[in-house]
Amino acid sequence: MPANGTGFVLWLTGLSGAGKSTLSELIAADLRERDVPVELLDGDEMREFLTKGLGFSREDRDTNVMRIGYVAKLLAQHGVVSIVAAISPYRDTRDRVRAMANRFVEVHVDCALEHVEARDVKGLYAKARRGEIEQFTGISDPYEPPESPEVRVDSGVQSVDESLAAIMGWLEAEQLVPSRSTA
Ligand code: ADX
Repeated sequence: MPANGTGFVLWLTGLSGAGKSTLSELIAADLRERDVPVELLDGDEMREFLTKGLGFSREDRDTNVMRIGYVAKLLAQHGVVSIVAAISPYRDTRDRVRAMANRFVEVHVDCALEHVEARDVKGLYAKARRGEIEQFTGISDPYEPPESPEVRVDSGVQSVDESLAAIMGWLEAEQLVPSRSTA
C-alpha cells in the first residue's frame, strides 16, 4: 500500500457554515487512526496566524488561499495529508493551487444557501443581510462551485457521517489511504 508514504492535499471548499471544519476534523481523526500523518489547515485558524491581516476582497482571499495552498503543498511533499478547510470561493484560484500541488483532491462541501442561512451557526448571515458585513460569500460576494470536484457532498441532505463515509470511501478506492481493514 503506497498510501502511507504519499502525501496529498485534501481541499474542502464551500460556503461558510456548510460544515467544512467539522468534516475536516473528522477526516483528520479518521486518518490518524489509520496511522496516516495529517495536518489540518483551517481558514479560520490560518487567518489568526499565517494570513493575519487579510480581509475578504478578491485579492485578499486569493492571497489567503494561495498561502494556505503553498503550505499545504509543502507538507504534502513530506508525506503528510494536508487537509484544508477554506471557503476558497474562486474557481481559478483553487485551480492554481491544484496546479501547484503534486496531488490535489477537491471536495465540494455543498449546501444550499437557505440551509446554511437557516442554521447560521456564527450569526454572520444575519449580519450580512443587515449590511453589517460586506462582501459576505453567498450574500454579497460570489461563490463559484467546482465544476468537477473529486468528491461532492451535500450537508443539506446528507448527515455528517454519510459525508465522511463518502470522502473516506473515495480516498480508499483511489488507494490514497490505507483501508481500515488493512490499517
Ligand atoms: S476565504 O474566502 O479566504 O477562503 P476563509 O475560509 O479563510 O475565507 O474564512 C472564512 C471565514 O471568515 C468564515 O467562515 C467566516 O467565519 C469569516 N468571515 C468574515 N467575513 C467574511 C466574509 N465577508 N465572507 C466570508 N466569510 C467571512
